[in-house]
Amino acid sequence: MAALNGRDLLGLADLNPTELHELLQLATQLKSQQLKLRCNKVLGLLFSKASTRTRVSFTVAMYQLGGQVIDLNPNVTQVSRGEPIQDTARVLDRYLDILAIRTFAQQELETFARYAKIPVINALTDAEHPCQVLADLLTIQECFGSFTGLTLTYVGDGNNVANSLMLGCALAGMNVRIATPQGYEPDAEIVKQARAIANHQTEVLLTHDPELAAKGASVLYTDVWASMGQESQAGDRLPIFQPYQISAQLLSLADPKAIVLHCLPAHRGEEITEAVIEGSQSRVWEQAENRMHAQKALLVSILGAE
Ligand code: CP
Ligand code: NVA
Repeated sequence: MAALNGRDLLGLADLNPTELHELLQLATQLKSQQLKLRCNKVLGLLFSKASTRTRVSFTVAMYQLGGQVIDLNPNVTQVSRGEPIQDTARVLDRYLDILAIRTFAQQELETFARYAKIPVINALTDAEHPCQVLADLLTIQECFGSFTGLTLTYVGDGNNVANSLMLGCALAGMNVRIATPQGYEPDAEIVKQARAIANHQTEVLLTHDPELAAKGASVLYTDVWASMGQESQAGDRLPIFQPYQISAQLLSLADPKAIVLHCLPAHRGEEITEAVIEGSQSRVWEQAENRMHAQKALLVSILGAE
């Protein structure tokens, strides 16, 4: 069993390639029910942004393991009334076994993790979405059998999902290309980290040319053009991002066996067309299901199982 033993997952670079492969293997065994594990612990969800998939998949994963979940909506806790993170962290860690946090600044998550003695999981920040990418990699592994020789092309905003995808692909051993408009590139520090992990064995390519990036790709991936917290920029971004839409035309440049992924929620007609998301190459529903299996493996690996 992969053993993250009480560790935090604040970003994907907290894992090494072996740990990632072990986690995906554990997720596969749990999904097929070849392995049945129990973990009678309590997970807290402290989410400052909306969530459907992450909230429900973590909750069901924990219930299926025999554990329990407390939904700590900041609006009904003292967090929204300004109780310092340092204090909240040192109180919650006396009640809970593990905490998944969705917030804005990565720094806030890191402060929480520094003060909380229990493990903390990044359930999305402005910088990263590591749990999403665990499920993405599980989906890719299921579709292709291995990562060797594959190229994932992400087209759109260089956001949290793009950042985690660069790290995840580098750790998994696949090439990654990120095509964004100028000024919307992924985080430069994370690009450096991903390239260091890839160590010239695989490619981490940044470009402004979506067609060049899509050529021959095994996976085409996109996400919303304005993330949570950027809603006021959504209108201005539409014309800038239009050339970065995943359409049938862009998909035709990819490998004929390519799959299409989207972390969801999707804005049909913006970053992806209706025809592509509902088309035969789309694997978005399998991808969404895999959130639960990947996170179940993560919980067991961090907390241990009976
Ligand atoms: N993909 C994802 O994280 O979805 P939610 O925002 O619904 O959790
Ligand atoms: N980049 C998106 C992902 C949502 C799951 C956001 O942060 O809103």
